[in-house]
This record gives sequence, structure tokens and C-alpha cells, in this order.
Amino acid sequence: MLSARKVMQISQIIPVISVQSVEEALRLAEALMLGGVNIFEITLRTACALDAIKAVAHEFPEAMTGAGTVLNADQFQRVEDMGARFAISPGLTHELAYYKNSIPLLPGVATASEIMKGLEYGYDAFKLFPANIVGGVEAIKAFGAPFRDVVFCPTGGVNAGNAKEYLALENVLCVGGSWIVPTKLIQEQNFKEITKITQEALLALR
Ligand code: 3PG
Repeated sequence: MLSARKVMQISQIIPVISVQSVEEALRLAEALMLGGVNIFEITLRTACALDAIKAVAHEFPEAMTGAGTVLNADQFQRVEDMGARFAISPGLTHELAYYKNSIPLLPGVATASEIMKGLEYGYDAFKLFPANIVGGVEAIKAFGAPFRDVVFCPTGGVNAGNAKEYLALENVLCVGGSWIVPTKLIQEQNFKEITKITQEALLALR
């Protein structure tokens, strides 16, 4: 099975996508790929999310389509059934941690105790959520001292202005966020601009 760490090494940015239709998901995925990002976290926050995961995974097998906002074992199973290749959760529960699935889970943490709990369950790669609110770059630096082998994907409030600072940390493998897929541009169906923002974001991280 692909590990969560491997998923985190695919791209410096994992876009957090919430879509209103399957068509929108397909066009967004295409725009992101044109911009150089070939991994997507499609959140289970809209009615069409499962169908969108299925369509994007099928249409773009060369990309890494994953599911976000996976809150329980039932959802974890369903996203795998739809073709998701990884799952991300804002937190971690006993049920999720022990659910036997063949795709990796990137669980969310916000505190030292949550990291310790995750380690007990066998996880050592986490989404830090909501990153900017729970201490941002300084929190990840501080967690690096006691948790030397733990890596993070900060998400929540990450943007063009702070992504580079996060990615400069040794214990950050990638960042997640919705800033490269602004709702306004999606509503306006301005997918060209999303490609441009994606290209610029990647360039700025060089
Ligand atoms: C998430 O679910 O990971 C967050 O909602 C993404 O946060 P952002 O919108 O601040 O990037």
C-alpha cells in the first residue's frame, strides 16, 4: 500500500477542493493539472463529492485523486470504493484509526496529545489542522523537538504568503489548502485563472 508519506511527496501543494457538480470537479482537476498539480483532495462537503471523486479518479488515472473531510469508517470505505487513492481527515478517531482499508489515511492533529495518540495508532504523518490557528509555522517547529520522526501537511489558512515558510521546515512535506482554487473563480468558471494561480504558486515555491 502507498504510504501517506509517499502521497505527501507527490506535490508541494495539495489543493483542497469542494465542488458543486461533477463537471466542475473535472474542469478543476484539469485546470490544476495544466498548472502543474496532479493531486487533489476532494472534500466530502457537498452532495456530489463521492460522484466527483469517482469521475475525477476515472478520468485522470495519472493523477492522485483523494478524498477529504473523511470523518468515519463508513466514509473511509465509500471513498475507496469510488476510486480515491488516499483519504484525509481533520482529526482521528479510534474507528478511523483501526479501519482496515487499502488506501492511506492522513489524519488531522492540532495538539501534542493528538500526535501522541496518532503515534500509538501507528501514524507518523499528519495534517496539522487548522494550521494557522493552532500556531502555524512556530507550532510545527516546536512539535519537531519532541516528535523528531513526525511529518506534517499544514492545512487551514495556508496561502501564497505563508506556504513557502511552512515548506522550508524539515518536518513539513507539503501544504494543503483552498487558496489555489478560489470559490469565486470556480463560480465564474474561470478555470484558466486557476491554472495561472497554480503555476504562480508552484513558481513562488522554487
Ligand atoms: C481543510 O479542510 O483542509 C480546510 O478547510 C482548508 O483550509 P483553507 O480553506 O483555509 O485552505
